[in-house]
Amino acid sequence: MSSIIVVGAQWGDEGKGRIIDALAKKADAVVRFQGGSNAGHTVVVNGEKFVFHLIPSGVLRRGKKCIIGNGVVVDPRELLSEIESLNLRGIKVDSLYLSSNAHVIMPYHRKIEEIEEEQRGKNRIGTTRKGVGPAYVDKAARRGIRAVDLLDKEILNSKLRMSLQFWKNSFELGFSVEDILEEYLEYGRRLEKFIVDTSLIIHELVKEDRTILFEGAQGSLLDVDHGTYPFVTSSNATAGGACTGTGVGPTQIDQVLGVAKAYITRVGEGPFPTEIHNEVGELIQKRGQEYGATTGRARRCGWFDGVGLRYAVRVNGLDGLILTKLDILGGLSRIKICTAYRYRGKVIQDFPLEASHWQECEPVYEEMEGWDDDAFEAKRIEDFPRPIQKYLNRIEEIGGVPILFLSVSAERDNLLALRQDSATLLA
Ligand code: IMO
Ligand code: MG
Repeated sequence: MSSIIVVGAQWGDEGKGRIIDALAKKADAVVRFQGGSNAGHTVVVNGEKFVFHLIPSGVLRRGKKCIIGNGVVVDPRELLSEIESLNLRGIKVDSLYLSSNAHVIMPYHRKIEEIEEEQRGKNRIGTTRKGVGPAYVDKAARRGIRAVDLLDKEILNSKLRMSLQFWKNSFELGFSVEDILEEYLEYGRRLEKFIVDTSLIIHELVKEDRTILFEGAQGSLLDVDHGTYPFVTSSNATAGGACTGTGVGPTQIDQVLGVAKAYITRVGEGPFPTEIHNEVGELIQKRGQEYGATTGRARRCGWFDGVGLRYAVRVNGLDGLILTKLDILGGLSRIKICTAYRYRGKVIQDFPLEASHWQECEPVYEEMEGWDDDAFEAKRIEDFPRPIQKYLNRIEEIGGVPILFLSVSAERDNLLALRQDSATLLA
């Protein structure tokens, strides 16, 4: 049927997990293509909460293929414990496929990241400390260890030696090859049944005209090339990453969807022009339960950033937007929406060239009327109060992108299709 990429349009935590879970109902496969266990994707089913870090968020839909592509960096300990805890909750993980080319996060990657963050002091990135960055460094430097390497003692031994020796030249790590080798070979034995050429599987699915969802992690503004560098993650979280991270050609992709919250959050350091520094920000944080699903850190909260949205539309080629958590803004008398920035005396529509200057940007706001807390009792968009309709229209205008779905609670079924053609994606 179709290949759909779903990416975060902001700084992560937009609600990608719950959207993937909803769309997965009609899909045949869900594929993660970048990032690692820095991601925390939450799905709530009948009041029961699941948080996925590595396993694609389609796993709660029986029989769907869950694929971890070559672009993901995998911590085998985390993957195995995620599989185990799902099993304990009665969810069978039997359709999992792990790319033989996916790189492996080693215990020293996490340690290196911790040391680096400490050394950066007040300039720290505020990473999730999952070892994601250093694992991608090894990958790009061509000394990385891939999933398939866990299956061969000799290969793992020699690659491990090379990688570890390199890092030991700069860091006091206290790891030895012997410490790691047996443990990781054991992970290899336990993961062996999942390790395959995932690009071949995806290729077959495409040929059979199946529906494939590509599940982005992090968000467009955290993309290593297009985000607020250096306050970014180490992978391509934008749509292009779905091709390089899975081995699917761009011509095979039918649709690119972006997920955005009705406001915006950021966890970790870095520029954030629309951040709210008063009690309204705290209120949104509390009501939206804006605490990291991976690290538990409080997320910084801000008004919807139209400049960021336009940017995300552009760098991903978004066909449509899915807006989440609109209910959280209910009860606020006035709501602000950022349409442009004021930067060095000028009003600008796009981000300035140098990402470190983004912090200097002052948002140009439009103030809009708020809506009541219980506004979402209506089930059809036409029955929503006027201020909500205005807010949605304004976001569409500013971003130049249609809103296809709206989510007004974390529960699986609470996803409203705003357009006829988007409704077909769900049922
Ligand atoms: P999901 O998939 C929000 C942030 C970190 C930090 C920066 C770099 O749940 O949307 P990293 O550990 O990746 O090297 O950290 O990126 N970050 C996220 N923020 N949601 C995420 O994932 C994130 N994954 C990483 O807080 O600022
Ligand atoms: Mg998250």
